[in-house]
Amino acid sequence: MTMAKASVRDADIAGKRVLLRVDYNVPIEDGKVKDDSRIRASIPTIRYLLEHNASIVLMSHLGRPNGKVVESARLRPVAERLSRLMGRSVPVTGDALGIGTNDAIGRLKPGQMLLLENLRFHAAEEANDPSFAQALAAYGEVYVDDAFGAAHRAHASTVGVAALLPAYAGLLMEREIRSLSKLLESPAHPFAAVIGGAKVSGKIAVIENLMSTVDTFCIGGGMANTFLVASGYTVGKSLLEKDRVDDARRILQSAKEHGTDLLLPTDVVVAKEVTRGAEHKTVNVNKIPNSWSVVDLGPQTRVAYEAALESARTVFWNGPLGVFEVPTFGDGTRAMARHLARRAGAGATVVVGGGDSVAAVEELGLTQAFSHISTGGGASLEFLEGQELPGIAVLQDRPAPVRTRKQPSRAAGKRAAAAP
Ligand code: 3PG
Repeated sequence: MTMAKASVRDADIAGKRVLLRVDYNVPIEDGKVKDDSRIRASIPTIRYLLEHNASIVLMSHLGRPNGKVVESARLRPVAERLSRLMGRSVPVTGDALGIGTNDAIGRLKPGQMLLLENLRFHAAEEANDPSFAQALAAYGEVYVDDAFGAAHRAHASTVGVAALLPAYAGLLMEREIRSLSKLLESPAHPFAAVIGGAKVSGKIAVIENLMSTVDTFCIGGGMANTFLVASGYTVGKSLLEKDRVDDARRILQSAKEHGTDLLLPTDVVVAKEVTRGAEHKTVNVNKIPNSWSVVDLGPQTRVAYEAALESARTVFWNGPLGVFEVPTFGDGTRAMARHLARRAGAGATVVVGGGDSVAAVEELGLTQAFSHISTGGGASLEFLEGQELPGIAVLQDRPAPVRTRKQPSRAAGKRAAAAP
């Protein structure tokens, strides 16, 4: 059972300076934010803090600049988008440390905020260096973590500072923990998991952890090839993890033992080259040509997966079901996004876990249709693998509810009455 974490709602923040860790690691193209969903997801916590008269020092990483200043990894485009979304200017400091930053923070008044420059320009961030954590902690009186997407990283801003300040979950962090814990602890059945993506290696642990809870797995994407080979098929030139075939075989066996349906494609789209405009056709999985590659689910498989998901009351989806980045090979993924949006509309709980499956949902403008779209790629997978995420573990536990004395039971009352 996941221990409930104290949230920003439990914190005394009025008039305080709050150090708020967010995950603004967003795609930037031509100096502009390409997908602002992580920024939008942080806004409820920012508004909550401002409405409660706190001032906010926002901090995030962007990309992997490896401890050096990389111009293209500056947070200015993020600050611009946040300013637009908030309808007010959010300044970004020139560096996460330094006198200028200290002064700017010192001048913050209740209801004001600023964003520190990319934390990963300092190698000390990823090293969880204690003096870097101390420098960050000195910026605030209370620490709030809303960076669920980075909660699997034990860095100075996600773990180090939490030991130095009263540490609370932000509203997004709280929602992520609640939605994903529900999948692990009390999903409504039938519970189906649609698992795709290129490689099976990153999905083995999550499939194994969900095996005893999930009723049906629908497998797609490049990772399905390894399962097809484990089931005796050949997959031509397709992406294949040969060293994972035994793992796939073990999972197929485990599904049988658990009475879990594990559905694999029965037909697939194959292409001569995995590129836009390449020649492609649909074939049965026992007829994959030697020099072709599997690039998407076939129509028969799509129908079978949709039928299997029809009665599901809970669905978790992670990973595209074909080479989604090439539009012609994205039909299976897009059809799944539409089908799951309909299932959610019909009352099923549908959770989409991070990464490219989220991109598919966004592209189709279906984000509002789902019960929860996780802002964490790696973090949501590790969570569902059953791992304790360091960035969550360090947050304060919610105080246990005050226990009232139990009323004496009727039986106890009767016994007392019968006593001499
Ligand atoms: C993510 O995008 O998954 C998080 O922001 C973590 O980024 P990282 O993998 O570079 O640590």
